[in-house]
Amino acid sequence: MTKPVVTNSPDAATGEPADGSPDFITTLIHHPYRAPEGFDAVMPAVHKASTVFFPNVQALRTRDWRHKEGYTYGLHGTPTTFVLEERIAHLEGARHCVLAPSGLAALALVNMALLQPGDEVLLPDNVYGPSKELARSLLAQWGIGHRIYDPLNPGSAADLIGSATKLMWIEPPGSVTMEFPDVRALVRLARSRGIQTALDNTWGAGLAFKPFDLGGEPDEHLAVDVCMHALTKYPSGGGDVLMGSVTTVDRALHEKLLMAHMRLGLGVGGNDAEGILRALPSITLRYEAQDRSARNLAQWLSTQPAVARVLHPALPGSPGHEHWASLCTGAAGIFSILLHPSFEQVHVDQFVDALRVFRIGYSWGGPVSLAVPYGLDSMRKDRSHLVGHLVRLCIGLEHVEDLKADLSQALRVLPAPVRTPV
Ligand SMILES: Cc1ncc(COP(=O)(O)O)c(C=O)c1O
Repeated sequence: MTKPVVTNSPDAATGEPADGSPDFITTLIHHPYRAPEGFDAVMPAVHKASTVFFPNVQALRTRDWRHKEGYTYGLHGTPTTFVLEERIAHLEGARHCVLAPSGLAALALVNMALLQPGDEVLLPDNVYGPSKELARSLLAQWGIGHRIYDPLNPGSAADLIGSATKLMWIEPPGSVTMEFPDVRALVRLARSRGIQTALDNTWGAGLAFKPFDLGGEPDEHLAVDVCMHALTKYPSGGGDVLMGSVTTVDRALHEKLLMAHMRLGLGVGGNDAEGILRALPSITLRYEAQDRSARNLAQWLSTQPAVARVLHPALPGSPGHEHWASLCTGAAGIFSILLHPSFEQVHVDQFVDALRVFRIGYSWGGPVSLAVPYGLDSMRKDRSHLVGHLVRLCIGLEHVEDLKADLSQALRVLPAPVRTPV
């Protein structure tokens, strides 16, 4: 059985692995998995099973799936899912990984494994919407409270911490309004108050920064406790697979997650795991290409009269840009624009409907560019910095000039924005 490999921390100045060993993308592709003897190929085999045979009763009683030393039942892992778990742990610089059937299932798993009735969880105001919904509905029903902090003000989180607070979620950046929090300050705060941290790493994808190696002061090893990743986005890259992962460095924490995973039956299918294994070797190329196109379009959009504000953490002036700049070496290909507040919603809908290369649809990280208008009133407690009509754009792999031409022709359906005199 292959063992998880821990990513080398890159040198801050050069981005090269500090000890001269191969970059993680090389070892991601040249992984240690070995196929059964006599068959050596680029991709690992796809194993599918509910039932797994045991040679005898002794094996049935003693085989332990928790340490990946054997197989007991499809839900608890197959060679294919064990390989993918190892690859995702490697991508994120973790030691352990558990897979779930979607990003949302992975997120729910973290809450269910780490929280009990009477506990409270802290969520940033810009958190992935269904995470707030889960807290308001099922977590509340089970006697687990939640509090909403301002992602741009760690002090607001500090004020909300009480004796019941057990977990803080961090989402850099919120995937609709794109504010980038001070991840290091939040992790320091949680540590100092004895609270576990869970980071939604879907945007960073294990590439923009390393959640288990956040840098910080000399002699300070800053890391989150748990990383959740919607593999549906960049690891899949195709817009055709749903999956999530939860990675950790700490073995005891991993065991807690594993036991909750087993009790909930959150197994994933071999074909879906294969879909992600096939896409993983190209993840850095796709991420970098989508980042490049997104920044190009975000900059161009910021010069368009109909656009009141561009929300892209790599753009100076975007909320939390300085935190992005101090932590990240790249950015995902997703950003939002605020169309001028003088427009009516119907104009915004006409703009989105006029797009031809961009398609209307949820999600991101796939080959096709997507646009979605969002109503902010129900999404955010504090939206004073978000004046205008928000449209989120997820950049795919099309030629950037075709995307620009598409946006340009769609912007022409809008009336001239009405400027109010200052
Ligand atoms: C930031 C973030 N986290 C989690 C998820 C959930 O992923 P999934 O769609 O696989 O359930 C999403 C999906 O859009 C997301 O954007």
